[in-house]
Amino acid sequence: MTTEKLNALAVAARSNPLRSVAAERAGKAALQAAGWTVDLSRHYLDEAADAALLELASERALSEAISRLFSAEIVNPSENRAALHWALRSQTPQIGLAETVRVTTEVALKVAGRLANGEITASSGASFEAIVHIGIGGSDFGPRLVADAFADTQSRNMTVRFCANLDPFDLEMALDGLDPRTTLVIGISKSFGTEETLYNLTRARDWLKASVGEAWSKHMALVTANRTRALDWLGASDGLILDLPESVGGRFSIWSAGSLACMTALAPHVCKDFLEGAAEMDAHVQSTPLSDNLAVRLALLDYWNASCLGFGARVVLGYSRRLRMLSTYLQQLEMESNGKSIGPDGQPSAPVTAPLVWGGEGTIGQHSYHQWLHQGTHIMPTEFIVAPGSLTDPHGVLALKAHALAQAEVLANGRSFEEVKSEEPDLEDHIAAQKVHAGGRPSTVLSAPTLTPHALGALIALYEHRTYLAGVLWGVNSFDQWGVERGKTMAARLKPVLRGESVADDPVTGQLAKQVSR
Ligand code: F6P
Repeated sequence: MTTEKLNALAVAARSNPLRSVAAERAGKAALQAAGWTVDLSRHYLDEAADAALLELASERALSEAISRLFSAEIVNPSENRAALHWALRSQTPQIGLAETVRVTTEVALKVAGRLANGEITASSGASFEAIVHIGIGGSDFGPRLVADAFADTQSRNMTVRFCANLDPFDLEMALDGLDPRTTLVIGISKSFGTEETLYNLTRARDWLKASVGEAWSKHMALVTANRTRALDWLGASDGLILDLPESVGGRFSIWSAGSLACMTALAPHVCKDFLEGAAEMDAHVQSTPLSDNLAVRLALLDYWNASCLGFGARVVLGYSRRLRMLSTYLQQLEMESNGKSIGPDGQPSAPVTAPLVWGGEGTIGQHSYHQWLHQGTHIMPTEFIVAPGSLTDPHGVLALKAHALAQAEVLANGRSFEEVKSEEPDLEDHIAAQKVHAGGRPSTVLSAPTLTPHALGALIALYEHRTYLAGVLWGVNSFDQWGVERGKTMAARLKPVLRGESVADDPVTGQLAKQVSR
């Protein structure tokens, strides 16, 4: 399948009104797995395009890519590693390195149980009453998402706070009102070298020391792949250290000991069901033929929308209060994985790779950026994830679903001038013209009866596999992140400039350094 052929099909598909293309696909473009239904009707796709994309999937050996992932082969060539995030949630014993990885989650769940039942206590012997989770990126977004999504199951005796930013205000807010004598600080850092996390951990250590003295390490749990650095940081003190496997990328580590705070503070069934949901989606992705494989079809759609149709962004709208942090989480997962332009062989990737991923909570966004989505000049696919956080009130659930479906329909079908005038005949033409919706906005609707931990686990596992397979299609390594290193190096060089000890190489930076130092 040549890109020329795909692009020709894209031009043809784009020339037809989405409304009619979608009507043709209605009832024929839905797939199901692990409790989720995914409807792909409203996309610029026809039978020829679908067939061509499946041909591309075969040519790019997506089936082999799936089996290589689950066989613990090296799928991260630049770091010479497998990608074993799926082993963290495996419900059955594995072999070799995958089993070593699986056990790290098992150990973390046991430690969490001992923290929750008071077996592991504060230095005074009292039970912990607060947890401060310190981490950033993949050591923050996932646990923060799970803690927020299922906060209603949080133990009444346990406060959970998160801190990620270098801005001192972040830690100050995280510690505000907490008693160091009954607080556990959990530091998550795979490298144990991330400046933000080490800065905040050191300040938190001082906060603990001021109250419990040298017993501070009894109030620390560190989760890392770099045990040596962690022990060095702890010094002579002993502290709880849990393992993050080297073969699990930070943005793929939500299943790991990195979620110790959630494992400890939320109801025991939450993380258990979360892991089981992911494992169920793994089984689907591992065993389902390409055409019915949800991760494959979504990866092909991502390729089609970004690389063939040229949509430079994708909007993720979680129509569920429990999913209000999902788009932030997916930004790292997808954009840090596939926001690249050079392949693992050092050669250019596909000319267009991962789109901007952004979004928010539905129906909240309808009172913010939906005006832009409907009548702006930029067209991009929208992803509706409809999974009410609670089923206690059928009226609210029904209204939430009605809004999601209405938004998707108006985005796709639009509203013509004639329709406006026929519905509102007294409108002056220049007002009627401003009520026109161009339509033509494609969308996917993912739905589940309600957003349970099992559903969230399955959903995130689906996005992980979709991201990896889209990376294969774009010709990039989804598991490294060389692009984040340069900024960190430059920041170290600019600190002496900001202290007035040296001059910036760049004249604008030199000016900005003066401005921000006023
Ligand atoms: O953003 C770069 C990055 O390395 C992410 O991939 C990672 O999740 C984050 O920083 C934190 O890294 P660590 O867990 O090593 O502190």
